[in-house]
Amino acid sequence: MTRPNPGLIGLMRDRLLRALTLAWPLAFMPAWAALPSDIPPVGIDGAQAFRGACGPCHSANARHRIGPALQGVVGRVSGSAPGYDYSEAMKRAAVRWDDDTLGRFLQAPSTLVPGTSMSFPGLKDAARRRAILDFLAGLRAD
Ligand code: HEC
Repeated sequence: MTRPNPGLIGLMRDRLLRALTLAWPLAFMPAWAALPSDIPPVGIDGAQAFRGACGPCHSANARHRIGPALQGVVGRVSGSAPGYDYSEAMKRAAVRWDDDTLGRFLQAPSTLVPGTSMSFPGLKDAARRRAILDFLAGLRAD
């Protein structure tokens, strides 16, 4: 009558369960979690996000629509695209559009430029803003 020590089996089972519990989340960790935070999460297409949020008013080329053309907007001073009738607020703001100022404008347009005629509540989702900023940076003026 040599039965294995039930205490020992219990201990081994506990150890195995604990190891599995600790390893479990690794299997589900998305690949992008390991990447630096300035890379947009996989799945947000900047062009598509732009079309959805900005497309009703802005073109991605040199043509003005309800809003001014955004081609070449990165690096330009606010309210300076020739041929567009800006609000006084936007002309006075004289902000240079870079990653930081554009990001703040997209998050809350009338906080950065009080009185702007861009009637857009702002994009609260940082990942969507990031994707749209990267898309805008790729729209070179030529
Ligand atoms: C409802 C229409 C509308 C939507 C939606 C909209 N905009 Fe605008 N946008 C405007 C108008 C109108 C202006 C001009 C504002 C002014 O003169 O005060 C403007 C101005 C801007 C400017 C300043 C450009 C310059 O030449 O100084 C930027 C940058 C901009 N929009 C980016 C965006 C982006 C990016 C989105 C999408 C996330 C967006 N806008 C969504 C209407 C819109």
